[in-house]
Amino acid sequence: MNSTTQFIGSHSGLWKVIQLNRVKGESIAKPEYIDITNDGDAPQSNALWSLKGFNSNIRYTHKDEKQLLQAKQAPLARPEATCAALIPIKKSDAWWELAQDERRAIFDSSKHIGIGLDYLPQIARKLYHCRDLNEPFDFLTWFEYAPENAALFERLVEQLRHTEEWEYVDREIDIRLVR
Ligand code: HEM
Repeated sequence: MNSTTQFIGSHSGLWKVIQLNRVKGESIAKPEYIDITNDGDAPQSNALWSLKGFNSNIRYTHKDEKQLLQAKQAPLARPEATCAALIPIKKSDAWWELAQDERRAIFDSSKHIGIGLDYLPQIARKLYHCRDLNEPFDFLTWFEYAPENAALFERLVEQLRHTEEWEYVDREIDIRLVR
């Protein structure tokens, strides 16, 4: 069983929120800090909000792409990666009504992995799934990078937001943090 991770928006925590932008759909309140705990059940009485997700199996990645990703990617928690982004995303009913092979075709033709690969190893990433947890978002995406790669990260999100895949994004919040 995968353990659930909680992102807790609160008055204290490891990551200080420096910016919260609503990209699409309803926004969420801007906390001062975000803390991350692997205890998905821990109650959060003082929190402004808490979002839960879990690390899951891959859905769309081909074997050759998996190998390329593994060869290029950097781990989280690098000492120099003091900047982070938490981008919660919800996809539309139209997306979820598609068959798996149709979703995969859109994911492929949008070149999500090809685009992403260009930004490794500078940007480290982790994807959390939450659609099956009855959460307000379908995915919590987490990225870490060094301050000198902040502009690079802007370019990456800009590129992805212009793909066909993003036409199926209903709600997206872009939260930037520093450690
Ligand atoms: C750092 C470069 C990136 C790489 C290498 C990358 C790679 C990937 C890969 C391999 C998957 C598919 C996992 C699977 O097979 O199920 C994926 C999914 C996803 N990525 Fe990225 N990604 C990057 C950046 C981003 C960014 C910046 C965002 C958000 C702005 C993002 C949002 C997502 C979402 C929401 C999914 C889930 C899609 C779905 O299952 O429908 N990714 N990414």
